[in-house]
This record gives sequence, C-alpha cells and structure tokens, in this order.
Amino acid sequence: MATDVEYSEHIPVLRDAFIDAIFSDPDGCYVDCTFGRGGHSRQLLARLSEKGRLLAFDRDPDAVAAGEELAQQDARFAIEHADFARLGEVLDARGWCQVTGIGFDLGVSSPQVDQAQRGFSFRQDGPLDMRMDTTQGQPLSRRLEHVSERELIDILRRFGDERYAQRIARAILKAMHDGALTTTSDLENACFHAVPKQARYGSTHPATRTFQALRIWVNDEMQQIDDGISAAVDHLQPGGRLAVISFHSGEDRRIRDLIEARVHACTCPPQMPVCVCGKKPTMRWLQKKPVRPDEGEVAANPRSRSSMLRVAQRLTDAEAVKLAGYAGGVH
Ligand SMILES: C[S@@+](CC[C@H](N)C(=O)[O-])C[C@H]1O[C@@H](n2cnc3c(N)ncnc32)[C@H](O)[C@@H]1O
Repeated sequence: MATDVEYSEHIPVLRDAFIDAIFSDPDGCYVDCTFGRGGHSRQLLARLSEKGRLLAFDRDPDAVAAGEELAQQDARFAIEHADFARLGEVLDARGWCQVTGIGFDLGVSSPQVDQAQRGFSFRQDGPLDMRMDTTQGQPLSRRLEHVSERELIDILRRFGDERYAQRIARAILKAMHDGALTTTSDLENACFHAVPKQARYGSTHPATRTFQALRIWVNDEMQQIDDGISAAVDHLQPGGRLAVISFHSGEDRRIRDLIEARVHACTCPPQMPVCVCGKKPTMRWLQKKPVRPDEGEVAANPRSRSSMLRVAQRLTDAEAVKLAGYAGGVH
C-alpha cells in the first residue's frame, strides 16, 4: 500500500489562487486543514519566513506519514492526524487562537482514489471501504448492512443529487441481500443496471453520484464542514483569511451558507427600524463569487474541473461595529 502512495501524484487544484487567498504575512501562523500530499502546504511554506509557522491536518494515515516526512525536513511545519472537525480543540491545545490564514481543500486526493483497496473508485475493483481514516469508523460494507431503503434514497439525493436514487437504492440493497455486493465493481454494476438504458452511456457514468454520496455519508463530510469552518472562523485573527475549495454544489452551498451567516449576522426582520438581536457580523467576502479553474488548468488536471474556491476574511471589531450599523444604532 505504501508503495502505491509514493507513485500516485496529487496535483494541487487552484494552487496559486488558494495560496494568494490565505497568505498575507510571511511571519504568520497558518493552518492547512487538508494536507493530502502537501501540494498547497509546500507552496505556502515557500512564502513563509523563518518565523512563519504552518500546521496541517489530515485524517488519512498515509497523508500524515507524508506530512511527517516534511516535518522532519522543515521545522516551521507540523502535522496532526485528526479530522478537521477537531480543529478548535487542537488549536486551543497548541495555544493558536489568532491564526493568519486557514485553508480547506475538500474531498479526496489522487492517491486515495487511485488505490483500488481504498474503495473510492468505480473504475477499479476494490473492497467497499471509502473511509478516509482507515484507523476508525466503519467501512461502507458495514454501514450498508444497517441502512434502510428510505435512508439510502435520502443519502443518494442529499449528497449526490441522484435523479434515480430510488432505483439505485433498491438495486444496492437487493444485491447486498443476494450476497452479490462485496466490491466496488459490484456496486458500479448495481448502479449501471438500475438506471434506465438511455441514462447508461452519457458523459457521466451512472455510478458517479452514488459513489460521491456514499463517500460523503461514510466520512460524515457535511458535519465535518460545519464543525471545521465554525472553528476556523473562531480562530482567525482580525484580518485573517479563510479559503475553501469544494468539488460539488452541495458542499459549496453549505460553505456559502456557513460564511454568509457570519457576513449577515443580524436576524431581525427587515421591517425592524433598528437592530434588536445584537448580532454583529464577523466575516466579509473577499470574493463574492467562487473562483474556478481556467481552461488551461482543467486541460492539465481534469480533476480540477468542478473545483470552486471561496474566500472570506475575519473582520476587526471596529469593522464589525461599523458594518452592523451599530455606531448610529441604525438597523
Ligand atoms: C483534495 S485532498 C488535499 C490535497 C492537498 N491540498 C494537496 O495539495 O496535496 C483532500 C485531503 O483532505 C483530507 N481530508 C478530507 N476531509 C478531511 C477531514 N474532515 N479532516 C481531515 N482531513 C480531511 C483527505 O484525507 C485528503 O488527504
């Protein structure tokens, strides 16, 4: 397994835009919440002074092993084997409460997808696992043993926007009860035959959305985003920057809503002449619309195709008061 990791490369997506978004001070403290193979981390380290610090997270033991090698070569860098939902706890334990920039590059890395035995890909035959952290939690095969048809339909719809969720969920559960669902090829086969014939040979493979939805479910990715982004906002210094790359619209909506709730914090009805809820904004958008890769990047790295980068900044207290209209008490 380690051998595969060494030979499978991960090309960092939106690399320069991502680093430009979070970097502001060469002496600052930064957090890369999704180390992967360190493409973004290395780029950031290249901009830091001797005083600058970078702490990375990854829940995947292979990614952490790669990060530990980097930590041995560069004293400014450290890595934690932890999911980023634990960001707040880990930063508090290290006394990092005023972070200069925090970045998330969500989803899976190329080494994860390219190793058949991780079970992420329908293009290779492997076990039904899909865990990013192979040291804990239950693999997909075990999770499916305890799911009802209703729950599975809901998972496929919510996390995959799957149009044929009912047909696919039925096919998966039938294959499982028949003892014909033990590998990723079995799962791919169940999806392929569940959709109507005209939907089998389009530009997107009929198993794509199901694999995405099941991966999000197995790794509890939406809750991770909620907890990780909230902790990141709480630990940014005034003026500190947050950058998040996501790969599908459901994730992007979640991120947008989480940040938007901190940009427009007041919850008073619009007809109220003055604010009575007292909630002040804590963030502002640095890019109102998500940044996307250009044609050149997509051609060079097709996995970047659906990527979207959102960038926001933590307000100073004075900015928050001004933006809330508090100075004059006006809503
Ligand atoms: C798209 S890759 C990041 C690639 C990285 N930016 C690079 O340039 O090499 C995503 C990485 O984040 C990790 N990851 C995803 N969700 C995570 C979470 N909730 N907590 C910690 N790590 C996570 C995955 O294990 C994977 O290694």
